[in-house]
Amino acid sequence: EEFLSEALAGGATASAPAGPTVPVTVLWGSQTGNAESLSKQLMKRMKKGGFEPEVHDMATYDRSRLPQEKNLLIITSTYGDGEPPDNAEELYNWILSDEAPKMEGVSYSVLALGDTNYPDFCKCGIDFDLRLEALGASRISARVDSDVDFDDPFKEWSDAVIGALAPAGQPSSSNGEVLDQVEEGYSKKHPFPSTILKNYNLNTGGEKETYHVEISLDGSDLSYEVGDALGVFPTNPPEVVDEILENLAFRTNAEVELPDGREVSLREALISFYDIGTINKSVIQKWQPRSGSPYLRSLVEADDKKAFEDFCWGRDLIDLVVDHPADFSDADEFVGILKKLQPRLYSIASSPNAHPGEVHLCVGIVRYDSHGRKRGGICSTYLSDRSDGTNPGVFVHSNKAFRLPESGDTPLIMVGPGTGIAPFRAFLEERKVSGAKGGNWLLFGNPHQATDFLYQDELTAFQKDGTLQRLDLAWSRDQKEKVYVQNLMIEHGAEMWKWLEDGAAFYVCGDASRMAKDVDAALHKIAETHGKMSEDEAKEFISKLKKDKRYQRDVY
Ligand code: 2AM
Repeated sequence: EEFLSEALAGGATASAPAGPTVPVTVLWGSQTGNAESLSKQLMKRMKKGGFEPEVHDMATYDRSRLPQEKNLLIITSTYGDGEPPDNAEELYNWILSDEAPKMEGVSYSVLALGDTNYPDFCKCGIDFDLRLEALGASRISARVDSDVDFDDPFKEWSDAVIGALAPAGQPSSSNGEVLDQVEEGYSKKHPFPSTILKNYNLNTGGEKETYHVEISLDGSDLSYEVGDALGVFPTNPPEVVDEILENLAFRTNAEVELPDGREVSLREALISFYDIGTINKSVIQKWQPRSGSPYLRSLVEADDKKAFEDFCWGRDLIDLVVDHPADFSDADEFVGILKKLQPRLYSIASSPNAHPGEVHLCVGIVRYDSHGRKRGGICSTYLSDRSDGTNPGVFVHSNKAFRLPESGDTPLIMVGPGTGIAPFRAFLEERKVSGAKGGNWLLFGNPHQATDFLYQDELTAFQKDGTLQRLDLAWSRDQKEKVYVQNLMIEHGAEMWKWLEDGAAFYVCGDASRMAKDVDAALHKIAETHGKMSEDEAKEFISKLKKDKRYQRDVY
């Protein structure tokens, strides 16, 4: 493959006159690997187009070089409540601070990755963009803010940047196609139709439902490492699609053309290809002009972020269709305002060496009642309720920022409450199969011991066979006062500090907005209390842990 792409590259640039190359520095801030992989794609493309690109992880980039950069490209995601990815945090805080130098000679452009279903969409990229402008840098091309389906926005942004910077005589925008042609195997664009082997509830009663799902990768070329995620393409509930169809005024017994040119029935399109699960500002803005709803008109006219969020919360497409009917001339026009159905990423819960040919997931099933309807998470309820006899499209999403230490002797501390346990089941399986000698310490939490002790039998077996040295359990609702994993960290702080002094690597998986923040604060506290550090020393110690890849997070 490498050889092929080099050969094509030669073909693409051979006719261009040899001239001076254009220096470009690409910095990526990435939590799940998307910004990182786009940076690398961009680098390949630029190399072929007469550029001299350098790509850097924001965490290891020497920031004193920043004011001297000629052409600076930033690709960064945002996660949780508008936060920068872990590897971007230091550069982000520094550039927004008073310490940041003037950047008058710098030309730059930002590609911001985000998810319109979250508040503070693309905040990290927006902040970089506005701050660089304020520091005197000038834009090569406008920032592009991308929703989760980033392929087209990435192309739009890179075409604009390359077009503006391309050395004379170089092909500027044709190489994106060339890269696509050499891509092979199953991927997000070409998911593998997998088979579900087993799916069952790990909870034994109670309010929560957490499914263990075993999927066969037989017949695919897919491989993965522990720490990776699996992308799953769900389908929508047919009964909701049928209710939508009954409430539309145009002829719904029709075919529509999908973005890739295929023709399918409108019903099939709504079941398998379009997002009917969430609504957001942009869907409402497109819906409103076609609807006589005075309520939607005032919502769109007021253009108030909070009002949009309040309206969208707990509502889906069906609510617009039923409560705020709109006129569409035909099925194609209707699907034209919908977003494509996106795959969901789940942290893989198995080691490929413990379960060859299989991949296991631990999935929290989302169900709730709102505005008079029973609703559910599209992919989670697909996996629990609607996947029998189907072949879910899957692909492996590599996560290089969440990897076991190179040495099996390195002790591990793993904090994974709720479904955050998923990658740690995989880690423990892998450490056992590989005969790793380092100690393993797991902190798990959930509401009730009696019903929510996920993988209890397996964890007990890992304790018995010596794989798991310590297991601390936070049953948050089994007593009056809540007990969380971070409380157990503090309680066992002296021991945890000893593990860290012995070189342990610290891993966190699960909720980003509350749990991971509280766990981070507890880690700082432990360094202060047991490492006898000042607040600043503790901060420095922990950012060094991150740089040394001894503090890794898979949080969402
Ligand atoms: P709760 O729902 O009883 O508040 C997995 O979801 C577990 O994480 C549950 O026991 C949940 O407790 C707990 N949890 C909720 N908020 C948390 C936080 N800020 N930090 C750590 N754990 C939390």
